[in-house]
Amino acid sequence: MEFGPHPLQKGGAALEKTMSLTKLLRGGGADRPIPPVTVQTLLEKKRAGQPITALTAYDYPTAFLVDQAGIDLILVGDSVGMAVLGYESTLPVTMDEMVHHTRAVARGVRRAFLVADMPFGSYHVSAEDAVRNAARLVKEAGAHAVKIEGGRTRAALVQRVVEAEIPVVAHIGLTPQSVHRMSGYQVQGRTTEAVEGLYADAESLQAAGAAAIVLEGIPREVAARITAHTSLPTIGIGAGPDCNGQILVFHDLVNLTFSPPAKFVRRYGDAAALFSNALRRYRDDVISGGFPGDAESYHLPKKVTAELAETGLPAPEPTGSGQPQCILESAAVLAEPAALARLAGD
Ligand code: KIV
Repeated sequence: MEFGPHPLQKGGAALEKTMSLTKLLRGGGADRPIPPVTVQTLLEKKRAGQPITALTAYDYPTAFLVDQAGIDLILVGDSVGMAVLGYESTLPVTMDEMVHHTRAVARGVRRAFLVADMPFGSYHVSAEDAVRNAARLVKEAGAHAVKIEGGRTRAALVQRVVEAEIPVVAHIGLTPQSVHRMSGYQVQGRTTEAVEGLYADAESLQAAGAAAIVLEGIPREVAARITAHTSLPTIGIGAGPDCNGQILVFHDLVNLTFSPPAKFVRRYGDAAALFSNALRRYRDDVISGGFPGDAESYHLPKKVTAELAETGLPAPEPTGSGQPQCILESAAVLAEPAALARLAGD
């Protein structure tokens, strides 16, 4: 699905009219309304056998791109902790961090169903806490639903949040917030007993009124059986192709994790290479005086230039590259291979 260019992206706007980061027009504008994805849409897709597409996003620009690509569901996962904040697991992520990132994502979303993760500790103490924190994600941050990890032990809690009018996406199988109980990030559901447990989880979450269910890190055969058995739309990650939809972490998809990908990840782009290349070229251009050029500079009106000439104020000679001579001289020194190596740290 293509939405065409953003209304503010047509042509290069002058700095005086719009800074380079501006506000998104939500809902596509009155002239181009975009039907939003809802809980009902997800159910209809399951019934019609149409795949549900889902991805994580953690900030405005990635949410904007993911939404524009026609992805149905955007998850502000607590994976933000690892993908963006540099934590070693998802456990340290706080409610305030989730609210902060969800608000940024909400500003970039026009069509997708926006789900925010309930972080570790935000629903483990009491149902009251869970409802209060889920309501924050909807009320303060703009989420349409929350995601809660856990199976039948969380079903009563899921029901309480649903009764507070907040749709819940459940999450079973490999649940990263249980990393210590699971003794690491291990594929789940590999024994008959464990498979029966996952069935019971899905059944109790369906009865609790969950809107959909994420199946993470379980054998393909188990995910296929649960998908066929439950009326809930299933969204898989490391759960094979037979789920009703698929979700991946944005940073895995575009190679921004700086570590080897898990087996279930497919890389569709190399943002690390793209960014590194752009950054090095920028650095080199600044050092060589190639950036900014005259075309990237503002100029005095001719009249003011003439008036200034009368004042006798010193005027540095333009060098052709847009750099005053003194800066070019320092650049020449820095451009020596040894100085460049020192700067690059290699
Ligand atoms: O936090 C997250 O990104 C998730 C997905 C992996 C489903 O929970």
